[in-house]
Amino acid sequence: MSSFDFFQHWYPLLPIEDIEPQKPTTATLLGIPLVIWKSPSSLAYQVFLDRCPHRLAPLSEGKIDYQTGNLMCSYTT
Ligand code: FES
Repeated sequence: MSSFDFFQHWYPLLPIEDIEPQKPTTATLLGIPLVIWKSPSSLAYQVFLDRCPHRLAPLSEGKIDYQTGNLMCSYTT
């Protein structure tokens, strides 16, 4: 008998209409805080854990840097 592994499947997060491409958007999946964002030069959205690696600050409180195309932590903006 096998058990269902929730972390081995794909899930829809949000309707695309609910995402503002100019700023980070939050979502929660299986209790995990996520941030959805897109570089201005890309058509693809990125989904990261909503925590920066240094201070565990929510990356969703940062901003998208239009010069580099990167998601910037609120501590570095
Ligand atoms: S990435 Fe360094 S403090 Fe957030």
